[in-house]
Amino acid sequence: MLYYLDSFFFVMNENNVKVKKLINFGPSGRAIAQPIDKNLLDNIFEHLTMERYANVQYFSIYLWFQERDLNGFASYFLNESKGEMEHAQKFADYLIARGQSVKLDELPAPVQTWDSIEDLISYSFNMEADLTSSLQQLYSISERISDTRTNVFLDPIVEAQTKSEDEFANILGKVKFASNQPSAILLIDSDLKIK
Ligand SMILES: [Fe+2]
Repeated sequence: MLYYLDSFFFVMNENNVKVKKLINFGPSGRAIAQPIDKNLLDNIFEHLTMERYANVQYFSIYLWFQERDLNGFASYFLNESKGEMEHAQKFADYLIARGQSVKLDELPAPVQTWDSIEDLISYSFNMEADLTSSLQQLYSISERISDTRTNVFLDPIVEAQTKSEDEFANILGKVKFASNQPSAILLIDSDLKIK
């Protein structure tokens, strides 16, 4: 819910005269410099849910590899899972900085069965591409309504997303090339090990 409590405060103007200035307070009670547009806010909440889902999904993939003794893949996905939680936190902190309360939605259960490693990496690649599309949507809404603060906030996140897509495309290329041969998969596994 969006509601703002307004209060007047005295400030000095350029002629050193005390004048009244309006300050908006958000639902969390924090002062707001520029309110967030309702549609943008709804889309940020949806994006936050996607980041939290990616966190849980990558954690479940970590478990899948850990159970199969592919510890390099496992460490890679555990690291990805932590990265997604950091992204979720970034969005939550940004909303708080903009005076909003952060509501957390229920998450769907993660996928835990896979036909092959290729199947699982393809799924991860698509998830990253969906996250990028969602960021692009946030970006274009912010631009349309001149919410420059949000565009500046999103810039480094979009850049990091392009890097994630590139990494997954690279792993997918190697896994496809390995075409399920155990020795090739083990080589990729040791390559992916995060020390
Ligand atoms: Fe992310």
